[in-house]
Amino acid sequence: MLPSIEKTIEELKIAGELNAGPWTKHSENVGIAARNIAEKVPGMNPDKAYIVGLLHDIGRRVGIVNIPKHVYEGYLFCQENGWDEVARVCMTHSYPLMEKEFEYEPENLEEQEIKKYILDCKCDDYDLLIQLCDSLAVDYGFCILEKRFVDVARRYGVWENSVERWNATFAIKEYFESKMGCSIYDVLPDIGRTTLLCPPPWKPGK
Ligand SMILES: [Fe+2]
Repeated sequence: MLPSIEKTIEELKIAGELNAGPWTKHSENVGIAARNIAEKVPGMNPDKAYIVGLLHDIGRRVGIVNIPKHVYEGYLFCQENGWDEVARVCMTHSYPLMEKEFEYEPENLEEQEIKKYILDCKCDDYDLLIQLCDSLAVDYGFCILEKRFVDVARRYGVWENSVERWNATFAIKEYFESKMGCSIYDVLPDIGRTTLLCPPPWKPGK
């Protein structure tokens, strides 16, 4: 089940009041990117793409949180509301390599729950779409994948599997482009301008 678009926008607004930050604008842009791409993909529902895009980071409503924490909080929040289709995207959006991201035994409970979920989950097109759009959207608009990867690396650092994760995201880009018959960048408004903007990376407390 999914919330309505009106309810989705309202929930994102409430979450932004609970935990203000550029993540809400990023979420809006993920929603727009997902909707615009889905409009060009036969068989996809652009409204669903928009809703799961807007809410993929909703776990951030509980405060400034790390990757597993915001993933799991978002999952719990959506499950509590009965929005199972959003809950799964909250879980899958941060893990483009899926089970390969969990070749270790997590220490904390949240990560253990995420691992269990991811190992049992096979990505559908909406999971893939939001994994991709998460890397196309910033708070000030849209950007090419290469730029977003550097932006994230500057904020969080790089891991052993970072290049593999980037390659997986490029593969998703190619997957959707083959279905769209055009470049994903053709449907991202004003990307030619916004991808060249270089505001300093956001830090909590600003
Ligand atoms: Fe995100």
